Amino acid sequence: MSKIIFQKSGVELNWGGSEENILELAEIHDLDLAYGCRMGNCTACQQKVISGEVEYPTGHTGEPDEGYALLCCCTLKESYLGRSRISDGPYW
Ligand code: FES
Repeated sequence: MSKIIFQKSGVELNWGGSEENILELAEIHDLDLAYGCRMGNCTACQQKVISGEVEYPTGHTGEPDEGYALLCCCTLKESYLGRSRISDGPYW
C-alpha cells in the first residue's frame, strides 16, 4: 500500500484510493490545509510534492507552480508504490 507523509506535521497516512483526493484524505485525519474552490481552479490548495507522483483523474483548470500539486483534485499516481512526501505548510 502507498503512503503519504506530510512533511511539516510528520503525519503518515495510507493511501488506499477510496478518498477522492489527497486534500480529503488529509482532512479526514484532521490536517488543516489551505483550500479555496475545491474544484481545481484557484490553486489555493497547492502544496509541494517532495517525492512521489500525482495525477488528476478529473482534470483541473488552475495551474500549480512547478513541482507543486493541487491537492483538492489530485490522487497518488496509481502506478506509484511506496512513500510519497507532500508539504502541508510553507515549503522552502
Ligand atoms: S482549492 Fe482551488 S484549486 Fe484546489
